[in-house]
Amino acid sequence: MTEYQTVTADTSVYRDGTIKLHGPEGFAGMRKAGRLAAEILDALADKVEPGVTTGELDDLVREMTLDGGAVPATLGYRGYTHSCCISINHVVCHGIPSDKRLKDGDIVNIDVTPLLDGWHGDSSRMFLVGDVSIKAKRLVDVTYECLMLGIEKAQPGARLGDIGAAIQQHAESQRYGVVREFCGHGLGRLFHDAPEVVHAGRAGTGPELRPGMFMTIEPMINLGRPQVKLLSDGWTAVTRDKSLSAQFEHSIGITETGNEIFTKSPTGRDHPPY
Ligand code: MF3
Ligand code: CO
Ligand code: CO
Repeated sequence: MTEYQTVTADTSVYRDGTIKLHGPEGFAGMRKAGRLAAEILDALADKVEPGVTTGELDDLVREMTLDGGAVPATLGYRGYTHSCCISINHVVCHGIPSDKRLKDGDIVNIDVTPLLDGWHGDSSRMFLVGDVSIKAKRLVDVTYECLMLGIEKAQPGARLGDIGAAIQQHAESQRYGVVREFCGHGLGRLFHDAPEVVHAGRAGTGPELRPGMFMTIEPMINLGRPQVKLLSDGWTAVTRDKSLSAQFEHSIGITETGNEIFTKSPTGRDHPPY
């Protein structure tokens, strides 16, 4: 049996395995945090170009986050010391910013999570560096479609498994691999909370989606096989077969009538070309 919990200011910070059902203050908080995440990603569109280092982009993310009155939730999170994750080409997720320079043809995911007034806005987008191959662009396009097809299934009364089933069906129809080792998650005052939002599975299974649930959907889709491996830095996940990988992430809330995307771009730059 899935347990749900209508949260109050006092209980919303505890990670007890229950699925939290938030009220209007939660929606207001997530709207602001999500908007800041989207604005940061919007601004990065003009900065991602050949020659820039991922460390320089991380500095920009930190400055924009602080300027927005937030702190980067990743800074100090489980020993992580950067303000965002930047994952290039065959890096699936959790790429660590460094002095590495972006080069023509790269596809890059930047994942930001401003923590604003106690609420987490978690979102990532893909960026194309210079001239990108048609094959890579198609992977990026299909991955964004996977995210949006998953979000369409996030309706009150639906089941959590409906989301993963829609994503898996679309990705596999293109012969792409869906990463299983990392998933979306509940969030709110907590960065990572119940439930786990897997990106593959069976429709009609899992907990029922109810108004007030907050979660991320963040499919990682590989041009080749779905398997990943972790590098020795303990963070960087790469495709085992070295194939390209893409990811998009939104934070959403289930409403009485559907869902609200907290991290939607206010300027329409949710996906490339920007
Ligand atoms: N933003 C990531 C997510 O979507 C989590 C990054 S945690 C870090 O859940 F420590 F790797 F930064
Ligand atoms: Co996330
Ligand atoms: Co994220």
